[in-house]
Amino acid sequence: MEVLLADEYGFCFGVERAVEMVEEAVAEGARPIRSLGPLIHNAQEMERLGEKGVSTIDSPGEADGDTIAVIRAHGVTPQVQRDLEQRAAQVIDATCPFVTRVQHLAERAAEQGRDVVVAGNPDHPEMIGVVGYAPNNTYVVRDASEVASLPTLRSPLVVSQTTIKLKTFLEVAEAVRQKADAKPQVVNTICSATRDRQDAARALAGEVDAFYVIGGRHSSNSVKLLAVCQEQCEKSFLIETPSEIDPGDLQGVGRVGVTAGASTPDWLIKQVVQRLNEIGAAHAQPVH
Ligand code: F3S
Repeated sequence: MEVLLADEYGFCFGVERAVEMVEEAVAEGARPIRSLGPLIHNAQEMERLGEKGVSTIDSPGEADGDTIAVIRAHGVTPQVQRDLEQRAAQVIDATCPFVTRVQHLAERAAEQGRDVVVAGNPDHPEMIGVVGYAPNNTYVVRDASEVASLPTLRSPLVVSQTTIKLKTFLEVAEAVRQKADAKPQVVNTICSATRDRQDAARALAGEVDAFYVIGGRHSSNSVKLLAVCQEQCEKSFLIETPSEIDPGDLQGVGRVGVTAGASTPDWLIKQVVQRLNEIGAAHAQPVH
């Protein structure tokens, strides 16, 4: 049995960077390290980091004078950042640079007295952080239909949550055009990581007999990856750990594909590939 990895899989740039920043602090002996919200949406990686003394807090109020506080890749509002800086011994800002860009674009537009429309989910932590940079001027809309209820928009800036669909963003931008008092400035701030993983999985799914997506069952990008694989490969499975692989599913399978969501660490992917290779070798044994 041949095990094939998709061309793009696993940690996106921002998540990898955040984990590396925390690992560096751990290596320097910094303690206790507390991330505001889970650093990463992967239970196994959180457990691994937990063993190294990294824990999670739910609000800046939980940071004390000893705490090394971590701002995760989603970012936070300037107010939350200030709170952490006042309370904690040190703040590690692991906001993904692609998110920082959206925050700064919104802040600058607001300083110029312009409105900001962000296509995204208003309840998502990334969006809550962005709104904090331009609280009086920003509207977060889930789709174009929500633009209709907005007031006339002043020289608006249109940006997007980093993980939304391009189609939604373009539709929102068009709806804003019709609500604006001047031509809007449209800046596509969608990050390609999710899309790249889906495209790579799609390209491989047609060439394999079975497909394993490694990721959390509650991770939306992993669930979406599974749906992409299932379109072309009936035997597609979402697993969190190698122990979930059922060798029975691989009977008669010649080629098996593997991909992983943006929060799945490399060590877990390696374990799955190793397990698949073991099962493949066992299946290759001659039957007496
Ligand atoms: Fe950053 Fe894109 Fe990942 S915005 S956190 S690299 S999905």
